[in-house]
Amino acid sequence: MIKKIGVLTSGGDAPGMNAAVRAVVRTALSKGMEVYGVHKGYVGLISGNIVKMDERSVSDIIHRGGTILSTARCPEFRTEEGVEKARKKCEEIGIEGLVVIGGDGSFRGAADLSAKGVLCIGLPGTIDNDIACTDYTIGFDTAMNTAMELMDKLRDTSQSHDRCSVVEVMGRNAGHIAVNTGIACGATDIITVEAPYDLDVIAKSMLEKRAKGKQYFVVVVSEGIGHTEEIAKVLQEKTQIETRATILGHVQRGGSPTLRDRVEATRMGYYAVELLEQGIGNRVVGIKDSKIVDYDIQEALSMKKEYDSHLHRIAEEIAF
Ligand code: ADP
Ligand code: F6P
Repeated sequence: MIKKIGVLTSGGDAPGMNAAVRAVVRTALSKGMEVYGVHKGYVGLISGNIVKMDERSVSDIIHRGGTILSTARCPEFRTEEGVEKARKKCEEIGIEGLVVIGGDGSFRGAADLSAKGVLCIGLPGTIDNDIACTDYTIGFDTAMNTAMELMDKLRDTSQSHDRCSVVEVMGRNAGHIAVNTGIACGATDIITVEAPYDLDVIAKSMLEKRAKGKQYFVVVVSEGIGHTEEIAKVLQEKTQIETRATILGHVQRGGSPTLRDRVEATRMGYYAVELLEQGIGNRVVGIKDSKIVDYDIQEALSMKKEYDSHLHRIAEEIAF
């Protein structure tokens, strides 16, 4: 029976990470385990920035964005020496299991630590929803809702000025935030890495729509495309429609998590501790078809995430 576990957040923060930390801590305590919070991801695991958590350590955090444990990127953990230092720290404290809340990179680190005997469970925490073994990642819903609200504001001003708003949303190389927020905001076009695009075609269709009375335009660009300002410039040149570029940026990573993020984070956090309780490690937890699932970390990392091309086509078909 596992007696002591740790929990950390790693990589980019995401709204709902706190709800996951809370669920892990409270579930572990309810099962009679000791639980330790590791500050600043793998950086804190190596340096020993680790504190014992109790019932009150996670009070009043379920509605807060960010992560109370702080997060970091840790180049040292990519080395054998770094992982060995972390293993030793776990051994010193007696931590036998660890819940790692982060993205693919964090799971690679968790696999390395699992290979050294510390049972690690990965929970998908990233706004990008770019983790293949799960339909859903913690933070995705909040980030999309934030982007949607901001885009609604851009619509207002674009409409007043008969302009085109070219809006860049986050997602690293994945277009999941772009395609969903594009649909939700009635974007005229959505440009993502996953779908081919042609600025000549977009400009031509904007002019056709303008000729039929369309007043203003919203074009959503996924971050992975990489040159939103340039796209805005080219569209303005090709259409003579006044265009502005807006990069939404890190506001999309903040804010109080939505109900969905809180609930899914809690379900996954609870399940992670159940796995550890059974002495199971080296797994990534996810949600498929609304059910909780878990995969071997290497298997999870080798999976390929589907892009919802159908949703993208629907958006294009009904953007008059
Ligand atoms: P994310 O977890 O969101 O994908 P990163 O890719 O920045 O974020 O990874 C977070 C941390 O995970 C890195 O700073 C590093 O400590 C660890 N990590 C990333 N890739 C690896 C790897 N290939 N091997 C071991 N650890 C890794
Ligand atoms: O992975 C989350 C994310 O916000 C991506 O959407 C974005 O590409 C990246 O992190 C930004 O990272 P940083 O916080 O290091 O600027």
